Amino acid sequence: MKKRKANLLPIRIVGDKILRQKAKKVEEINDEVLNFIQDLTYTMYETDGVGLSSPQVGKSLCIFVVDPYWYREGHTKEPYVFINPKIVELEGETESEEGCLSLPGIFEKVPRAEKVVVEATNPKGERKRYTAEGLFAITIQHENDHLEGILFVDKIPKLRKMLIQRKINELKKKTDKNGVNIAANEAK
Ligand code: NI
Repeated sequence: MKKRKANLLPIRIVGDKILRQKAKKVEEINDEVLNFIQDLTYTMYETDGVGLSSPQVGKSLCIFVVDPYWYREGHTKEPYVFINPKIVELEGETESEEGCLSLPGIFEKVPRAEKVVVEATNPKGERKRYTAEGLFAITIQHENDHLEGILFVDKIPKLRKMLIQRKINELKKKTDKNGVNIAANEAK
């Protein structure tokens, strides 16, 4: 692939209608899709994320990228790109504090499966099967939910949701008449 400078994509915030839509399947991995993956990956690192899904940058496509450990000492960047992912197995239970670039300032404990087996196509067009656990498994479930229009706050106990509803409403206030809500720290 030709060298191309990656773009920082603006992050969509809760209240933006695209975050509630079901993402479309990728039919063909062409240059446009590959360029988008490059931008999505770049944006994840630039915003200090461990995962980022396409709807979060305003594109309704079944693609997300995950790199759960890159910021830790002794780790290098190793992005995993999941195209048309399908979770085929969930095992065990765990709970940990999650945040989301589309819900800035909100952190809540979310119940998840401990282990996940997921099938997905990589950017080379190969269908692969991944077995993940720990933070990797949690991030995959979180990002995969985005493709279904699900946010992590949908999965927390009702009482907790009530307590943070005001914060969510504050974020939603910035949504414009077209249902778009772009982060303040968007692309310069
Ligand atoms: Ni998220």
